[in-house]
Amino acid sequence: MVKRSDHNGFEPRILGYLCHWCAYASADLAGTHKMKYPPNVRFIRVPCTGIIHPNFVVYPLSRGIDGVVVLGCHPGECHYHSGNIVAQDRVQAIKIVLDEYGITPERFRLDWCSSGEAERFVNIMREFTRHIRALGPNQVNLKAWHHGPPCVERPPGVEPMRSFGGVPYYWDGRRYRSPQSAQRQLKQLLDRGFEVKLVPEEGGFLIYTRREQ
Ligand code: FES
Repeated sequence: MVKRSDHNGFEPRILGYLCHWCAYASADLAGTHKMKYPPNVRFIRVPCTGIIHPNFVVYPLSRGIDGVVVLGCHPGECHYHSGNIVAQDRVQAIKIVLDEYGITPERFRLDWCSSGEAERFVNIMREFTRHIRALGPNQVNLKAWHHGPPCVERPPGVEPMRSFGGVPYYWDGRRYRSPQSAQRQLKQLLDRGFEVKLVPEEGGFLIYTRREQ
């Protein structure tokens, strides 16, 4: 049983998503060879890293899991051609969302491991566990995230849709399917002085804005 006593004796709880075709097989191989790695990581087997919606990372971290690691096939070797490239493209958006939640993005890692690389698999698990242990417990405080001054200006063409902690934010009615397009829009809004919340929703991201008082 993993302990969560004090910082010194802290043993992190880590969630690992393993691609069935590569990382999961390398974990299996590591077990066959009786190679040891920390017991802190609990694994979920997925068909491909391309199915890892940002919520799969953000949700457990926002609920207090200490780290999330995603391991897929090396670039160019995805069983479904480009699933790992899709996963790679999502990394930056996931990090922006984690930052929004006040969670250090370093608690998330995406890496690659082929089915024969048992040693690489073990090393990644050891390194990541060591890294999360050094960061300490994930003390995410969702309540702190919700505070802020009230909205004073409604951006043109933007509809009120959601209130964070009683403070209205405005949604522009668009769902951003690619992290790149969301980031372009985010940058423009930030440049114009808006405060922004990027919220992962089924099939993409919604951007909410408000202006600082
Ligand atoms: Fe392994 Fe796509 S099949 S990452």
